Amino acid sequence: MKLLEPGYIGKLKIKNRVVMAAMGAHGLHESDGDWGERYRAYYEARAAGGVGLITTETTFVSQALEPFTKGLFNLASDKHLASMRLLAEALHSYGCKLSIQLTAGFGRVVPPPVVPEGVKPVSASENTHYSPVIPNDPNALTRAITTEEAAALAQSFGYAAMRCREGRADCVELHGHEGYLLDQFMTGLWNRRDDRYGGSREKRLTFAREAIEAIKRDAGADFPIIYRYGINHYLEGGREEEEGLWVTQELEKMGVAALHVDAGCYETHWWPHPPQYSPPGCMVFLAEKVKQVSSLPVITVGRLHYPDTAEKALADGKADFIAIGRGLLSEPEWVNKPRYCS
Ligand SMILES: Cc1cc2nc3c(=O)[nH]c(=O)nc-3n(C[C@H](O)[C@H](O)[C@H](O)COP(=O)(O)O)c2cc1C
Repeated sequence: MKLLEPGYIGKLKIKNRVVMAAMGAHGLHESDGDWGERYRAYYEARAAGGVGLITTETTFVSQALEPFTKGLFNLASDKHLASMRLLAEALHSYGCKLSIQLTAGFGRVVPPPVVPEGVKPVSASENTHYSPVIPNDPNALTRAITTEEAAALAQSFGYAAMRCREGRADCVELHGHEGYLLDQFMTGLWNRRDDRYGGSREKRLTFAREAIEAIKRDAGADFPIIYRYGINHYLEGGREEEEGLWVTQELEKMGVAALHVDAGCYETHWWPHPPQYSPPGCMVFLAEKVKQVSSLPVITVGRLHYPDTAEKALADGKADFIAIGRGLLSEPEWVNKPRYCS
């Protein structure tokens, strides 16, 4: 089975092709955001179940601009390093690798209830503050992040990745999809800046480029970076496929080690969070398009918890790794089960 063959992300060997997709497990954090025993036990069960690479949920590289995330695990200081090391050691004992998902933050999609009265969240430009109740309320706006704030935030990725390496993580994943702050920088609909961070599609990638350069400088050029992004937002004014494939080639030039291919955003949440009505492997066709323009390893995601669908995506050369989210929530032994059947 291709699913069970080892694969590489940069020089990092993964024992099979199964990645656990990032899924917020904040309810398992300790009250100070630390990763304690409950949190470790959750991931350890998936490592024991055979997963090759586990991705944590979003971890914050800085909380300076989103102070309402204080109390969650973050990499703005060494505070949580010891707990990362314990998690890495636990996963490594099963031959499973650890990927830490680094986020720039929410930007315009921060849940309104957590934002204090009178505070405007930041975004790449002044945008509507997304709310599931009123998605485009003209009275609920973000403020544009300043050039200095954006530069400092991009640099925070370097310090955070350095801490991941010190914490014995094996790689990082940049949270560039689904219309979060990093994606807001990358997208013309939300980025209407005229400084070095916007103005053309090339300049809209400046924030990502600076973050990647900072990671390479601080964590080492050999520390693998997986970039998670959407090829198409399926939203009027959002990124479309042609630009998504162009972004692919730019990311490759920036030196990322693997591409995690997604789609959609908050307004079109049925893409990044496909319901049971979406077909199995609903975004494999996008991964296949990325494979046609890039030589990097490609991770595909979305309702891939059907072993035959997952195996076929790999065997047909449409992706190099498959990521599973909810399937691993419900079945920690997902990898071991097809192994016994093969
Ligand atoms: C509860 C939950 C939390 C999630 N949190 C994150 C997250 O922190 N970062 C991220 O990139 N994706 C997150 N996702 C999206 C998943 O990584 C994945 O893309 C999605 O669940 C589709 O894959 P699946 O069909 O295998 O579940 C989350 C999904 C769920 C269900």
